[in-house]
Amino acid sequence: MAILEVKDIRKSFDREEILKGISFDMEKGQTLSILGSSGSGKTTLLRCLNFLETPDSGTITVNGNLLFDGNNKPGKNENLREKRLHFGMVFQQFNLFPQYTALENVILAPKLENNGKSQAEILEEGKILLNKMGLSDRMDNYPHQLSGGQQQRVAIARALALKPDILCFDEPTSALDPELTGEVLKVIRELADNHTTMIIVTHEIGFAREVSDEIIFMDGGVIAEQGTPAQVIDNPGEERTRQFLSNYLK
Ligand SMILES: Nc1ncnc2c1ncn2[C@@H]1O[C@H](COP(=O)(O)OP(=O)(O)O)[C@@H](O)[C@H]1O
Ligand SMILES: [Mg+2]
Repeated sequence: MAILEVKDIRKSFDREEILKGISFDMEKGQTLSILGSSGSGKTTLLRCLNFLETPDSGTITVNGNLLFDGNNKPGKNENLREKRLHFGMVFQQFNLFPQYTALENVILAPKLENNGKSQAEILEEGKILLNKMGLSDRMDNYPHQLSGGQQQRVAIARALALKPDILCFDEPTSALDPELTGEVLKVIRELADNHTTMIIVTHEIGFAREVSDEIIFMDGGVIAEQGTPAQVIDNPGEERTRQFLSNYLK
């Protein structure tokens, strides 16, 4: 069974349709990368999946549970917290809480979640996650004391702390200096090797080709092409995919 089924998602801003019917499935343990020019709707799609935006229509199903149905939209006061828990989000700009240490950033949400775990367990899990991100000696640092690459790794640990079904990345290395990009891609690659289910919006085409099971190329609010990296990146069927890739693979 697909872990995620997205059907005919549409979203307009100011009467301009930005997502024009997006449909795709993904399997548990897979890495899906979304490529596409600036303005093609990639961020809007991730924000719809994370319920940061409400789609105008379509459905989103996770593990067979219909989380969003455009024909039966959630009311303004409906608590989306539980639905959001299915997705973890890592943003381009890290978005850490500046007043909290790395470890506090990671354990804040699990503490509020109150899911029967003891404070000691939550603390221990937070430390394990930061260890995995290579940050064992940085746990007590505040964001301003960390490099961009370290901050982004804290943000990844924070997203993982809530054990999302699907971890989403929106251009996770775009705000980083080139020499810091590698350390972040390395931890994402390790997550892929460990079969973390991930959707990655990225302009790192070579990286996407290496780690992805599936690639979606978006253009003008539609999925222009979808397939394996060998299909979409090495042997694109669409002229617009070829044009996009030629700008990046020079
Ligand atoms: N909240 C918003 N209000 C109005 N327009 C928006 C909003 N969010 C995104 N857009 C527009 O939607 C289009 C797609 O944006 P976006 O999803 O950010 O694309 P991408 O991430 O692929 O660069 C852009 O033209 C952008 O200006
Ligand atoms: Mg974007």
